[in-house]
Amino acid sequence: MDEVKNFEEFLKLPDKYYVTTPIYYVNDKPHIGHAYTTVLGDVLARYHREQKVPTFFLTGTDEHGQKVQHAAEKRGISPQEHSDETVLRFQELWERLGISNDYFIRTTMPAHKKVVQEILQDLYDRGEIYKDEYKGRYCVHCERFFKEKDLNGDILCPECKRPTNEITESNYFFRMSKYQGWLIDYIKTHPHFILPMFRANETLGFLNKPLGDLCISRPKSRLSWGIELPFDSDYVCYVWFDALINYISGVGYRQDDEKFRKWWPASCHLIGKDILTTHSVYWPIMLKAMGVEMPQTIFAHGWWLSGDAKMSKSLGNVVNPMDMIDRFGVDAFRYYLIAAMTPGQDASFTEDAFVNRYNSDLANDLGNLLSRVVKMTLRVGDGVIPNHGKFEQEEHDLAAALDNAIVSMHAAVMTMRLDGGIEQVLNAIRAGNRYLELTAPWTLAKKGETERLNTVLYCTAELLRIVSVLLDPVMPEKMTEIRFALGIDRNERPEFDVEKLRAFTRNNILSGRKVNDIDSLFPRFVPAMPEAPVPAPKATEKAKSQKAAEPVGLIDIEEFGKMQLLTAKVLEAEKVEGADKLLKLQLEVGDTRRQIVSGIAQFYTPEDMIGRHIVIVANLKPAKIRGIESEGMLLCAKSGKNLKLIAIDGDVPSGSSVG
Ligand code: MSP
Repeated sequence: MDEVKNFEEFLKLPDKYYVTTPIYYVNDKPHIGHAYTTVLGDVLARYHREQKVPTFFLTGTDEHGQKVQHAAEKRGISPQEHSDETVLRFQELWERLGISNDYFIRTTMPAHKKVVQEILQDLYDRGEIYKDEYKGRYCVHCERFFKEKDLNGDILCPECKRPTNEITESNYFFRMSKYQGWLIDYIKTHPHFILPMFRANETLGFLNKPLGDLCISRPKSRLSWGIELPFDSDYVCYVWFDALINYISGVGYRQDDEKFRKWWPASCHLIGKDILTTHSVYWPIMLKAMGVEMPQTIFAHGWWLSGDAKMSKSLGNVVNPMDMIDRFGVDAFRYYLIAAMTPGQDASFTEDAFVNRYNSDLANDLGNLLSRVVKMTLRVGDGVIPNHGKFEQEEHDLAAALDNAIVSMHAAVMTMRLDGGIEQVLNAIRAGNRYLELTAPWTLAKKGETERLNTVLYCTAELLRIVSVLLDPVMPEKMTEIRFALGIDRNERPEFDVEKLRAFTRNNILSGRKVNDIDSLFPRFVPAMPEAPVPAPKATEKAKSQKAAEPVGLIDIEEFGKMQLLTAKVLEAEKVEGADKLLKLQLEVGDTRRQIVSGIAQFYTPEDMIGRHIVIVANLKPAKIRGIESEGMLLCAKSGKNLKLIAIDGDVPSGSSVG
């Protein structure tokens, strides 16, 4: 954020918002990298729509060029057939991920091809494109030419490090070099043009060396799968020159002037850091030569790594988005992508990190808050969200946490720091859980302090409603469910109006609504139980003889060490129907949640249990008690008919080891 000079200016809502993703090659299956940019674009588009900004979101596929031709050849089918089949993988994934693009462009569409040819003809007619003999090296993978001097005596491609081939051929060139000075000046005078700022500096570094002209043709004898040059049918257009044009052909350039005027210039081209040069050098110069206005921002995000390593097919560590969706649900996956990566920097993906975040942020913090509020309203408030009474300091503190979340989320959208905004929303959710512990609504109900109880029920419901608006673009399905649980129609679209949302103390949208008891929003994910600790070494003969002398019933330290005793916090408690001795408890144990059924119902009520810190045997084999899964046992002291829970003297986090 400190990179942004005119911060106030930057926070103003734009008149319209046009966001794009790169168009993806159809030679491959979509992976987490593709999913990330597209979800990021979707989240930004949804935030702007939620803020009532007219929005257009474009994504699509890049279907020409050598990579696609090779992939089709390998399969023994035509490139068009190959593209028609593989494009479906992208479209199906976007459908599954709830991507709200306004148009899906394919570069093999006749309308796009026509626009590319018209642009080529126009540039050729105006002398911006000329024919020349090319001698140098060529990288098939990157589809880029290099002069010997670019390679510093090496034959490896500076981009992908694969060997390049020597090549001599006649080709058409775009006069890119003559715009070098203009581009340097443009980047220096437009601080939001290439973001993050260090990517602008990287581009300026690249522009320090003389910029050559760009070879924009490929002879058909070598590559036939492309858009034919309108002025020479022996050649097709270079795939990048064709692909970049999608950003304008997708919004009506040379087809529908009104539409084009409405959406262009693009507000934000989202790209990965590996395709920076094509977007920050080729594309602006192409637009300049065409006489078309520059996009406002080109934003380059970092890479998802698998742990610390680059994801690659050969390493077998590529994350498949469909698998993640099948296992954790669409919204959890979307949440992780957006919450766990700081746009601009690389991020590491591991399943452990995913599960931890899922269990702590979504299952424990958010899901748990919703279920507490709904259950309490059903039990003590007749299922109707009440009107609030007088606000005390606790409510003002809660309002302050929410206020911070609202303002931060708004700023986060405008400054591309969505992860930071989400963190503040999570802080408000945590403040909501703390507020419930502090105000103890179950006790208020028992004491008959109805006005105070009503205030607590109202405030927590309102907090959840606001959170559902703030996180709707990230998790549209689950946030709709939260609003439905709070009695709001599923079809009612939320509005992200900063001022209206901030009026926490004056809003009265929820009181009088009947809550709906919904299934657990984010069921806790239970990772496989950790392996039992290493078995105690076999007793030696000497030890055996020593043992014989020991009193019966004693265990040694290794045996004791097999028992895993942990602290836990009771999140929810309820009676087990038809069993007057049993309580079903939902516990927080560090980052995970677990359920234990315990025979303490004659000594403790469910309300007594909520919020307590207790001790559990965590590695007891799970068992079914009255058909209900119980994962562990809680520790109590028992004397005759008296039973007391083992309590913890002081404040330690749940999941701490006891022993
Ligand atoms: N077709 C070109 C783009 C043309 S845009 C006019 C292309 N396609 S691609 O399918 O190879 O890559 C698309 C995007 O995926 C790129 O932005 C790239 O950075 C991104 N990613 C590929 N692997 C990635 C990760 N592991 N992590 C994040 N994004 C990465 O390039």
